[in-house]
Amino acid sequence: MCKSNRSKQNKKMNKNKKDVKIETEKGSLMDEWPEPIVRVQSLAESNLSSLPDRYIKPASQRPTMTEDAPTATNIPIIDLEGLFSGEEGSSDDVIMAKISEACREWGFFQVVNHGVRPELMDAARENWREFFHLPVNAKETYSNSPRTYEGYGSRLGVEKGAILDWSDYYYLHHLPPRLKDFNKWPSFPPTIKEVIDEYGKEVVQLCERIMRVLSSNLGLREDKFQEAFGGKNIGACLRVNYYPKCPRPELALGLSSHSDPGGMTILLPDDQVIGLQVRKDDTWITVKPHPHAFIVNIGDQIQILSNSTYKSVEHRVIVNSEKERVSLAFFYNPKSDIPIQPLQELVSTHNPPLYPPMTFDQYRLFIRTQGPRGKSHVESHVSPR
Ligand code: OGA
Ligand code: NI
Repeated sequence: MCKSNRSKQNKKMNKNKKDVKIETEKGSLMDEWPEPIVRVQSLAESNLSSLPDRYIKPASQRPTMTEDAPTATNIPIIDLEGLFSGEEGSSDDVIMAKISEACREWGFFQVVNHGVRPELMDAARENWREFFHLPVNAKETYSNSPRTYEGYGSRLGVEKGAILDWSDYYYLHHLPPRLKDFNKWPSFPPTIKEVIDEYGKEVVQLCERIMRVLSSNLGLREDKFQEAFGGKNIGACLRVNYYPKCPRPELALGLSSHSDPGGMTILLPDDQVIGLQVRKDDTWITVKPHPHAFIVNIGDQIQILSNSTYKSVEHRVIVNSEKERVSLAFFYNPKSDIPIQPLQELVSTHNPPLYPPMTFDQYRLFIRTQGPRGKSHVESHVSPR
């Protein structure tokens, strides 16, 4: 890259840094939320007949409440059985081609026969459901702050007066080992720590397999993405979402439109209640989860590494007045302090890098500060032309 480009990029990075106004000197956020936290669970349990103004979305963001036809489009479903089994005549090429297309066209796909035990998936979800069924005050000891977001939370973003989403959540770290702190994990129900620990280990293995496919599908050495993520030092964290029943679901969102800031997300959706919608061109597709499938999606860091060959796609969550919903979003991220930029092998004079280098620590301040805002974060990060 020529010098003047690099200095333009540095300017852009500094500008981005300045834009994040409430960032403290050390590059992290403050200790306190801008206003008192209200648990969405408390609102839902108080049997409100109307929705508080803080949760009413502007008309342009409200969900369209049309019933999907049973034959309606769904995101691709891919069977991973036999992938990397090393067996003769295995269908690796076919599976890999399906993943390649899904990453380019959809940014989202479901996987079945993915190697994580179905009983462990159910146990993980049901342990978390029990946790969220605890009375609100029993969970306040885990209350989180915008500095690290770890613990029990009810908002994403620190802008005073923001319109909020209809959900509570819990956020914790699996990797790196130095950030995995059992004291910050819930201790009820009694089995929860052990179940999440095991769940995390199995899901990390699935992520490692998918990372190899993503690299190979771009004609790279299969460990290329893992290496760019920092090898063994990657980050992995879990965000468990709790979407209580909502009195006016047509006015609210459980989670506003966003793309995931990290590398790749493995979502375990509720087995009973739909809610996730994925943007395909200009329409919102409601995902119909396949039993014991995971929903995999590309995050912004993989879009950046692939120089936009793979797409980190907008998605959101709708709520309903009949049933609560629980989902587990497992985020597989690059080591947080190494610069991430398009892989050298994928750029040339004809295909210049679309993004300047930025660490994930720095990058995730966009969403941690501003909250979910469609694809604005990755779009604001493009290199100046
Ligand atoms: C997320 C997310 C979707 C869901 O946590 O980033 O997109 O279905 N969750 O809860
Ligand atoms: Ni998401």
